Amino acid sequence: MSFFTYQDGQMQAEGVPLARIAEQVGTPFYCYSSAALTAAYQAFAAAFSGQPATICYALKANSNQAVIRTLTALGAGADVVSEGELRRALRAGVPASKIVFAGVGKTAAEMAAGLDAGILQFNVESMPELRTLSAVAAARGRNASVSLRINPDVDANTHAKISTGKAENKFGIEFGAARAAFAEAAALPGIEPAGIALHIGSQLTGLEPYRAAFTRMAELTATLRADGHAIRRLDLGGGLGITYGEERPPAIRDYAALVKEVIGPLGCDLILEPGRLLTGNAGVLVTRVIYVKEGTSRSFVIVDAAMNDLIRPALYDAYHAILPVAEPASDAATRRVDIVGPVCESADTFATQRPLPPVAAGDLLTICSAGAYSAVMGSTYNTRLPTPEVMVRGGDYAIVKARPDYDAIIDQDSLPDWLVDTGVSRSRGVA
Ligand code: LLP
Repeated sequence: MSFFTYQDGQMQAEGVPLARIAEQVGTPFYCYSSAALTAAYQAFAAAFSGQPATICYALKANSNQAVIRTLTALGAGADVVSEGELRRALRAGVPASKIVFAGVGKTAAEMAAGLDAGILQFNVESMPELRTLSAVAAARGRNASVSLRINPDVDANTHAKISTGKAENKFGIEFGAARAAFAEAAALPGIEPAGIALHIGSQLTGLEPYRAAFTRMAELTATLRADGHAIRRLDLGGGLGITYGEERPPAIRDYAALVKEVIGPLGCDLILEPGRLLTGNAGVLVTRVIYVKEGTSRSFVIVDAAMNDLIRPALYDAYHAILPVAEPASDAATRRVDIVGPVCESADTFATQRPLPPVAAGDLLTICSAGAYSAVMGSTYNTRLPTPEVMVRGGDYAIVKARPDYDAIIDQDSLPDWLVDTGVSRSRGVA
């Protein structure tokens, strides 16, 4: 079910017309639906009820405080990959006892922050990282609860840039090195081995890669137990895909049934790290058409959002549905246009040869499925302002991240002494 639908000829987020928000906030802006977040979380949690699972929302998908808080109020923990995300999770109220710290390159300082916060576990991805964590924990007189991330060497059949479970990917400890890794972990001071973690990729649209990976995990659990290790916790990562266009990702209940079938008999506590599934279709990016430029071979719809606001099409050739905010007539003719942003490179393209009903300068467009890996991947390239974010709940909405002004961005730079007194005067405004 979508929470962004046409009502009375206007696209609404729950009960709020996007055009109304655009008037107050300006464009472009992200809009999140509280009900969509809630529905996605509850569907996931319901599918796993009856299994001993902790749902640790992967903050990297969308780490706005309002989003995290919405999910943690429903019971979600957090999967964080940096000290910054750890701080965001704690600030939003996620209990430390439900925080997993993942990531391939945690620094000693980040480990110390996690230990001091008292998080549930670290997912460790290499032996050098494990030894560093041991030293940091021992120096603080603490024990770090650790799962070793094992790379199962399976193909997730997803985009190469978001595939993580093949041997050639940088992630995890090689499958064949797992026994030696656990033997060393068991002997290291400050390390309390808890279990195994895996994550094979993102935007998976089939269950078979999961079956292959979970089966390898189950085999490894048996082997490690025979070696004398108490494997009591398994972290299955995230990755379940969503529908952007034509994809038909597996139903959550089928994924949960697979987990129960393959992993359930091991009797372990489970950690699940969904990101995109919880937030992807709970957000849109609203943008305004600046110009329609008719070329001889192409027509360009130039909008005020750009690759700095939403980089997924440029980076992964990702498809995002794009709909006019004002509902087109049901018999409106469409024509193929390129929908592009104002940034000075051809990669700044949201859609190529996309059928769109007629649009004119000033019209609003909704770029759909922009709740995950969208605002969080934004930048200020071309000195464009960071995109504001709004959350809707029922008939209410609130700005959950304001658009800063230009001075706030430029003031992040500073001049070295030798450039201050050059005699060149500086101006702050354009007025
Ligand atoms: N756990 C780990 C260890 C991960 O690396 C990731 C995502 C997740 C969980 C959450 O995966 P999800 O459920 O969201 O698929 N920027 C890319 C996606 C990068 C995913 C990185 N890792 C995109 O826009 O498609």
